[in-house]
Amino acid sequence: MPASSTGLRILSASDVIEQLQQLRTKQPVKFTAFYSSQLGGIVTDPALMVIPFDDHMVHRGHGIFDTAGIVNGKIYDLDAHLDRFLKSAERSKLKLPGTRDEMRDIIIKTTAASGRRDGSIRYWLSSGPGNLDLTPVAGAEPGFFVMIFPGLVYPEKWKTDGVRVMTTTYPIKPPLYAITKTTNYLPNVLMQMEAKEKGFDNGVFIDHDGHVGESSNMNVAFVSTDGVLVHPKFDHILSGCTSLRLLELARTLVSRGMLKDVKVTDVSLNDALAANEMLLIGSSVKVAGIVQWDQHTIGTGKPGPVAAALLQLLEEDMRSGDRLIDVPY
Ligand SMILES: Cc1ncc(COP(=O)(O)O)c(C=O)c1O
Repeated sequence: MPASSTGLRILSASDVIEQLQQLRTKQPVKFTAFYSSQLGGIVTDPALMVIPFDDHMVHRGHGIFDTAGIVNGKIYDLDAHLDRFLKSAERSKLKLPGTRDEMRDIIIKTTAASGRRDGSIRYWLSSGPGNLDLTPVAGAEPGFFVMIFPGLVYPEKWKTDGVRVMTTTYPIKPPLYAITKTTNYLPNVLMQMEAKEKGFDNGVFIDHDGHVGESSNMNVAFVSTDGVLVHPKFDHILSGCTSLRLLELARTLVSRGMLKDVKVTDVSLNDALAANEMLLIGSSVKVAGIVQWDQHTIGTGKPGPVAAALLQLLEEDMRSGDRLIDVPY
């Protein structure tokens, strides 16, 4: 930023493009394609991956998003993520820019344009630009955006040594906002920052009744002392697509005798801390074992066998299951 306002210039369109390109040179990003309904197409130059400031997603947080994975050149479980996206849109009173099939098609074509064969697709719906008010301006057109990027990466030692979490001091979102995937992630951001500042890997929200909620961008689940896979109810946390899929896949572990049962229920903090295993679950992390919660050791203090078995089932499903979509690269 200039030291004083005396040197402030009125910029031309080409000055702005140059400046946007310089920003990307200073801080390179690996975004390979971006679709914007406002631009009317796909751009591959990260400098052009922009949104007007008066879009209500920017200045009021009136927007939603979702993220699906690209695995070996196929998109994994997109329809589950799109179902959740549409539910979030409805709860947020956001208009759709077109039909579900049109949005799905744009997501697939943007992926193809990116050339990326492994990574993530994040897409947003905004209530659109037009003023700085709260409610959308009359006739505002919703914005639809799709970004193709490498995906979030976590330290290798999360896999080998396990993850260490703390009970966050930030209050859990009220249920309506927790079950809706809006762009309001302030509590989630603060929780992760707090955990890192205190030497942990991540935080966990506890609800007002003392039940376990979720982590910053991941669900948590447990293997109880009697061998049941227990997942918190989805009425006060995000319905993780990965958790929902794993709850189905885990039935295989019941038939193999590795688990007694699979249950979705309220989980008290005491039961959680006594668990044989605690798991972190999400599209980005897949499955990781949690080995420490605050000052308590979970299970043996090492990632457990159920975490490993669930990760294997999920990776198989991502490689060769029936939830893969071809990408016309
Ligand atoms: C708050 C929150 N909980 C849980 C999840 C896990 O959801 P998924 O398995 O669909 O990635 C996410 C990630 O989207 C999230 O942001």
